[in-house]
Formats: sequence, structure tokens, C-alpha cells
Amino acid sequence: MKTLFITGINTGIGKTYVGRILVKALIKAGHSCVPRKPVESGCEINNGELIPEDALKYFHAASGKIPLKEICPYRYEPPISPERAIRLADDVVTVTDLINSCTPTDNPNYLFVEGAGGFYSPLCSDGLNADLAQKLKADVILVVKDRLGCINQALLNIEAIQNRKLKLLAIVLNQTSEHEESSMDNLDDLRRRLSAPVIAIPNMVDANQKMLDMQYNSINELLNIIKDN
Ligand SMILES: Nc1ncnc2c1ncn2[C@@H]1O[C@H](COP(=O)(O)OP(=O)(O)O)[C@@H](O)[C@H]1O
Ligand SMILES: [Mg+2]
Repeated sequence: MKTLFITGINTGIGKTYVGRILVKALIKAGHSCVPRKPVESGCEINNGELIPEDALKYFHAASGKIPLKEICPYRYEPPISPERAIRLADDVVTVTDLINSCTPTDNPNYLFVEGAGGFYSPLCSDGLNADLAQKLKADVILVVKDRLGCINQALLNIEAIQNRKLKLLAIVLNQTSEHEESSMDNLDDLRRRLSAPVIAIPNMVDANQKMLDMQYNSINELLNIIKDN
């Protein structure tokens, strides 16, 4: 089993967006893939149950075959860091608890894990996202929001990932908002600086066929990188 950990330069930059498509694509390509979002805060209550929005997307990506409670066992209502939400609930959830809940009972080809926030965001009572990724010995996919300043954010994150002795599989340069006309070219600037592959995902709001093709090709490229590593 290979473990993939998706992280990003921040929250709200497309980890789940990319992760959901990737899990779907891995399964479609014939691999078994178990997604996990082991702890999620900012859950809404529906009929007395906390609903984890990200985990629900992974649940659907895996065609509803993996129970939601296995994808996301630790759920909290406040839209704050999971570590603080856990503390406010007078709970203790350790990295070991998260590892245990991430570990699939069968032996799939891929375990796909999304933490919360960024690589150094607090994730549970005794650890950061980085600690979970390290203990899982995961290969890392780093999602970077395509905007002014993202080269600095990407390089800082890459240094942190390398400090943890983890393999950086790819950087996904994601356009969460529409591209403004400018001479900025973060894809080229990152590619010139990095040895790891940099893959671009366009903004898909009002996507035309060209955008759909570009996203399809980018996800295929990611699949090939995952398979080859
Ligand atoms: N390439 C994209 N095109 C259009 N919308 C996107 C794209 N990437 C992310 N989004 C949207 O941006 C928002 C934040 O993305 P999400 O994946 O939830 O971020 P994260 O998991 O990093 O918190 C979501 O509403 C998502 O649908
Ligand atoms: Mg998310």
C-alpha cells in the first residue's frame, strides 16, 4: 500500500477539490484507493449528526463504498483549527488515534489522506499535519494557489516537507479564482526552480472544453507520477 498525503499552502486553496478528482481517477484507472479525512472541523449539524463536508466529497469519490464514519471519525462543529476544536470539546485526539483511524482494514493500493489547513497547521492534540504525514511515511502532494506571492509560499512548504524527509511527488498549481490578465507566470517560474513536477489546474468555474481538457490532462499526469513513484 502506498500512502498519499495532500497538503497545501493554506486552507481553502483546493486540497479537497484536487483530492476528490484524484481519488476518483485512481479508482477509475482500476486501483483500490481508500480516502481519509481523519479529523474535520466546521461540520454542520443535520438531524443531530455532524456532517463533514470534505469527507462527504471523498465518500462520493469512492462511490459511497467506504462508510463516512471510517473516512472521518473525528468531527467538530466550530470552524476553527481541529486542534482547538478538539480542545474546546474537552477531547483528546492524538496522532496515534489519527494513524489508527487512517489505517485501512484491507490492503488497498492507495491510502489517500487529507489533513486540515497547511503542512504546519495544528491537526490534533499532539501534532501538526506534518507529524501525521511523517508518521504515515506518506508521499506528499502540495497544492499551491496560483496568485502573487505563491512562489515564496511554495518554496517554504517544500523546504518544510524536505526537512521531514518526505518525498514530494508533485506541486499542483491551482487556480481557485479566475486568472487575471497579467504577465505573471507562476507555472513557468516554479518549473524553472523545482525538480519536482509542477502541474497546473485551471479555474473550472464556467469551464469550457479547453479547460476540461486541460484539467483531464493534468490529472492524468498526476496519475502517472503516482504510478511511477
Ligand atoms: N480549480 C478550481 N476551479 C474552480 N473552483 C475551485 C478550484 N479549486 C478549488 N475550487 C473551489 O475553491 C473552494 C475551496 O477549495 P477546497 O478544495 O475546499 O479547499 P481546501 O480543501 O484546501 O480547504 C471550493 O469551493 C472549491 O470548489
Ligand atoms: Mg479540504
